[in-house]
Amino acid sequence: MIQSSTRMVYLAPAIALVILVSTLFSCGRTFHTARRPALRVEAANRNILVGAAARSAYLSEHSYAKILGAEFNQLEPENELKFAIIHPSQNLFDFRGGDDLVAFGQAHNMKVRGHTLVWHRQLPPWIATGKLTSSQLKDVLKDHIARVMSHYAGKIYAWDVVNEAFNDDGTLRSTVWYDQPGTGHRQEGTAYIEEALRWARDADPQAKLFYNDYGAEQINPKSDAIYKMAKDFKERGVALDGVGFQFHESASFDNPRSLASVRENFRRFAALGLELQVTELDVRLTDATPESLKKQAKIYSEITNLCLTQPACTAIQTWGFTDKHSWIPYFFPGTGWALLWNSDYREKPAYQALSETLR
Ligand code: XIL
Repeated sequence: MIQSSTRMVYLAPAIALVILVSTLFSCGRTFHTARRPALRVEAANRNILVGAAARSAYLSEHSYAKILGAEFNQLEPENELKFAIIHPSQNLFDFRGGDDLVAFGQAHNMKVRGHTLVWHRQLPPWIATGKLTSSQLKDVLKDHIARVMSHYAGKIYAWDVVNEAFNDDGTLRSTVWYDQPGTGHRQEGTAYIEEALRWARDADPQAKLFYNDYGAEQINPKSDAIYKMAKDFKERGVALDGVGFQFHESASFDNPRSLASVRENFRRFAALGLELQVTELDVRLTDATPESLKKQAKIYSEITNLCLTQPACTAIQTWGFTDKHSWIPYFFPGTGWALLWNSDYREKPAYQALSETLR
């Protein structure tokens, strides 16, 4: 009796302290969340998706996984579904990286977007070295689309079936799929794209099928050519549901002319009955001064606004989310700082701007 009451005397202050600390902690968290909901909450209120490209190798990094799962409601494998990775040799499909990302997306109630089936880059040597004939390439691509899309049927809701098929001047890019030697439609314009879309529709009739490209955000010869193709496809009932606009931008995007041009471009594609998505947004800088970060924030806000004000625009997705893991410094040397979180996972002004614009 004496013993147990003595123990209470010692324990009571300790218990009180634990309760106090945990109450303070949870209040702080509640306050934080109440002040600014996650991007995915704001986006859902506006009826759009907010996504990020992600890499399976980083899912084991605590801050990376935490932010990705908490802030975004769409995820797109940055590399894992590309030909070289998923189909490295003729008889080998490697779905591991894609499967890990799809599982992460499902566990966090995110939609998963597929990227990409027909592209001239990140091809395995057995395709890129050009040893296959047209008729072999045709069989290979048809089988590739069927195998990859059926593996992810019901798990990946939309696919960039064809990526970057046009040159900036609006001509078709010369690639292994088009005319080197191509899948049997060289000099037949967009026929090879049409055929790939038909194969994709057969492979997964539920998936939304996109054409995706960069440098076609504004009205210019490239977007004119894509528009012409899309119009033709819609008129003839070819399976095309949407167009993805990559939006790899720099600080020079910040002028009224580019905004007006994107708005007009979005309008003409939307009028065809297509869904539009911002698929690979990043805004690269040459330094990270407060002025540069502010300008970047403004551009993020403007692009978000362009999507919000166009009813056909259904998603805004950034290409990665932390400057720690961004393709930009490697592909545009001398630039970087392109994303919403810095390399220490701190929210940047661009994050605040995106969040406020969504609200
Ligand atoms: C990039 C990835 O981010 C890099 O990790 C990879 O090394 C090269 O490809 N347009 C696209 C994307 O459609 O697939 C590219 O992704 C960026 C440009």
